[in-house]
Amino acid sequence: MQGILYPASNVVFYAQGSDPDKFPQLADPSLATDLLASAYGKWKAVENSSLAMAEAANLLTLPGRKCSNGLPVPIGNADWPKFVRGLREAAMVSYKAAQSKNMDNILDAADKLTTACSNCHDKYREKPTLADRCK
Ligand code: HEC
Repeated sequence: MQGILYPASNVVFYAQGSDPDKFPQLADPSLATDLLASAYGKWKAVENSSLAMAEAANLLTLPGRKCSNGLPVPIGNADWPKFVRGLREAAMVSYKAAQSKNMDNILDAADKLTTACSNCHDKYREKPTLADRCK
């Protein structure tokens, strides 16, 4: 979540309001901490970040993982795989939008992505206490 989905979704969200082609490359792009400024920057970074999110969906299906409160990731609950599929599909819409280099397409894709994140968060993350997550 924090290491892949958060940074990758921000790259996509950036492209809603600003043209990634205009994002300046770092003087030494191989040291870039911002994907948009890296050797694989601009629209390529939006494509790659979308693919990273689609692949991260696979990680959310692995058995034996735990949430931060120690409970097992609820992969056995009926709606979990549905939310994971929602993430993968939204990420692929975002990938296609990035390939089109069209900011209006990204606007639609980002909307789908936000919905895919919050569908799962509403059920498994937005809880009064940490202990109530992932049930
Ligand atoms: C299939 C379910 C699911 C999907 C889809 C999902 N998340 Fe999460 N996310 C969670 C759960 C569960 C937690 C809490 C994990 C924990 O406490 O260990 C979480 C936590 C997080 C956190 C850490 C914040 C916190 O309060 O702990 C971030 C950031 C995050 N998600 C970002 C995203 C983004 C961005 C997306 C969409 C691109 C996304 N997530 C999609 C289930 C999901």
